[in-house]
Amino acid sequence: MKRFRRLRKNAVIRNMMRENSIAPVDFIYPIFVIEGENIKNPVNSMPDIFQYSIDRLPEILDKVKESGISGVMLFGIPDKKDEFGSCAYDDNGITQRAVRFIKNNYPEIYCIVDVCLCEYTSHGHCGVVEGCEILNDKTLPLLAKMAVSLASAGADMIAPSDMMDGRVEVIRSALDTNGFENIPIMSYSAKFASAYYGPFRDAAQSAPGFGDRKSYQMDIANGQEALREIESDIDEGADIVMVKPALAYLDVLKEAALTYNIPFAVYNVSGEYSMVKAAAANGWIDEKRIVLENLIAMKRAGAKIIITYHALDAVKWLKEV
Ligand code: PBG
Ligand code: ZN
Repeated sequence: MKRFRRLRKNAVIRNMMRENSIAPVDFIYPIFVIEGENIKNPVNSMPDIFQYSIDRLPEILDKVKESGISGVMLFGIPDKKDEFGSCAYDDNGITQRAVRFIKNNYPEIYCIVDVCLCEYTSHGHCGVVEGCEILNDKTLPLLAKMAVSLASAGADMIAPSDMMDGRVEVIRSALDTNGFENIPIMSYSAKFASAYYGPFRDAAQSAPGFGDRKSYQMDIANGQEALREIESDIDEGADIVMVKPALAYLDVLKEAALTYNIPFAVYNVSGEYSMVKAAAANGWIDEKRIVLENLIAMKRAGAKIIITYHALDAVKWLKEV
């Protein structure tokens, strides 16, 4: 008989045998920044998550700094939206000012910016709209402009989430020609058209005004296509590639991480977070154990970086263990 239990006998041997671990440096914490003053709005569908005006950011940034996590991912909510998402690439836009604030006051916090138009467009789509169509090639220069504007504001990393074809190449070349050849791109490469983004769209006020995102985000049924998307983003110059959402797509992450020798990120999205929080609030699950189990599953599947709303709690709990 093979006695696997020999190596599970007590905590010392179990710890010695542990194949994976999670640590604060693995985590990136998403933050929603809203135009205005003295604002800290709770997001109804996401317990313990808020929209902050820039002047109230220190409240959360102090916690991020103290936690020892690697950084934040910023989502800006402008007060004016238009057809072309102009505030996205305005050097004085909400996200640009938030980046400047963070880099001036918390230089040690690594500042990643989400590059996409949906928070800034009146129609809520991730690209330029004509009739009922979301135009790929007309969107590309706007994304490039947004990336350069955010890099100029001091962003440490650019993370395009729009799912237009060819955007990594266009953003890479725009960054390079503007002197930002050392700013990395983390591409949302395999981003699925998922219902798990529901709560985020409340938080970022970015729900599409008509239709859905299925003509640009991936079909939830496709794993092989995800590999092609990832390969193409690597060819275009992505430094890190992402799979999103996390839990229902760990098969995709695992296969991709075994296939490509490049760092992987995974986005543990809003719906995944809210489901756990809701069950925990009802006393149905042990929140701490469930969250740490989910996060280690992402690591085990091959993620190097985990973007998660649980980051600050997870760090607290990791210290207790
Ligand atoms: C913007 C964007 C979205 C998310 C990250 N960037 C929403 C979407 O594509 O509709 C989702 C994040 C989450 O659900 O936590 N394109
Ligand atoms: Zn978008």
